[in-house]
Amino acid sequence: MTDAAQRHVPVLLERCLDLLAPAIQPAGASERSVTPVLIDCTLGMGGHTEGALTRFENLTVIGIDRDPEAIALASERLARFGDRFRAVRTTYDHVDDVAREASPYGDGTVDAVLMDLGVSSLQLDDADRGFSYARTAPLDMRMDQSQGRTAQEILDTADEREIGRILRVYGEERFAPRIARTIVRRREDGDPVATTQGLVDVVRASVPAAARRTGGNPSKRTFQALRIAVNAELEVLEAAVPRALNSVRVGGRLVVESYQSLEDRIVKQAMVAGATTNAPADLPFVPEDAAPYLELVTHGAERADEEEQARNPRSAPVRLRAATRLRPASDAPAPEPGTGTGGARRDRPRPAPSRRSGTRSDTRDHARARGRRSR
Ligand SMILES: C[S@@+](CC[C@H](N)C(=O)[O-])C[C@H]1O[C@@H](n2cnc3c(N)ncnc32)[C@H](O)[C@@H]1O
Repeated sequence: MTDAAQRHVPVLLERCLDLLAPAIQPAGASERSVTPVLIDCTLGMGGHTEGALTRFENLTVIGIDRDPEAIALASERLARFGDRFRAVRTTYDHVDDVAREASPYGDGTVDAVLMDLGVSSLQLDDADRGFSYARTAPLDMRMDQSQGRTAQEILDTADEREIGRILRVYGEERFAPRIARTIVRRREDGDPVATTQGLVDVVRASVPAAARRTGGNPSKRTFQALRIAVNAELEVLEAAVPRALNSVRVGGRLVVESYQSLEDRIVKQAMVAGATTNAPADLPFVPEDAAPYLELVTHGAERADEEEQARNPRSAPVRLRAATRLRPASDAPAPEPGTGTGGARRDRPRPAPSRRSGTRSDTRDHARARGRRSR
């Protein structure tokens, strides 16, 4: 086992590969002249990528990670696959740029995109990086330590309101105002929080005794919130999901594993929006340009079973979702944040019912899709 393989156990590996398979090896794949391409947006220690390169013999994987240490360790692990693997150090909201460059179809699309969100065990276990409330370390928490504000800088400079907002919004922390007040008071008293252990102590001192006895370590939400803020995780994910959806060919798939509800909400909303028609319910058919551009492959979010949770506790919170692209992004782009809930697809004028296009079976499929409105 390589160093990387020992540091992180991939979550729901076989299930992810099963979900990717129809996009990478569709029926009649042996006759395809192109080499299928998967973009792994969260290369980490390369566990999912290694599984994909092993199962799908002619596959090429482009692995993205913002963490240079992850890139180095995974590249060492995957060197035996030669030019079937390539690493790109960037944030995954650049998935569309990477797809444009790697597209085997010449149109900026690839066969599949995988996202396994959050931090890797390497990052959590590395005492110097400050992600873990279980180890004493400087309050860094940057996935890419070469840029951006550290958690320490946020705690040293943000006002009480802003710290409270971060803890409430990104950590869903009930006691956010109390914790923020203690942090700022300590700063004003000339004794600022300066290590992970110091932050753990502040949280413990701020949370009522009764709340400390339930729901696991009371610092968990504060650490999650700061990590999300430091790495702008939700903003990057909000931009990345539609770009990933727009980077897969028709029949291609996006597979995403999320580990907390804020991430999962972003993924779910984008997938459900693409799988839902916006045609009025009383139309006898769905006009082609109002047809869903995605089909949901997973029914709701899938979880790890008890056996995997016991073997790999990191899998306990996972929510796995997958979708297949039904229409080209050129016709039906997933909307980027800030373009309105409907985005380009919904802004287009709706054709009158008599200008129907599409085959009968299209129409039936679309009618079925309309039934998915509420999923
Ligand atoms: C859960 S780990 C992935 C583990 C991987 N699937 C494996 O099997 O080894 C998540 C990885 O995504 C990276 N990451 C998180 N946010 C990112 C972002 N916005 N852009 C690029 N990489 C990111 C982290 O640095 C981390 O290495």
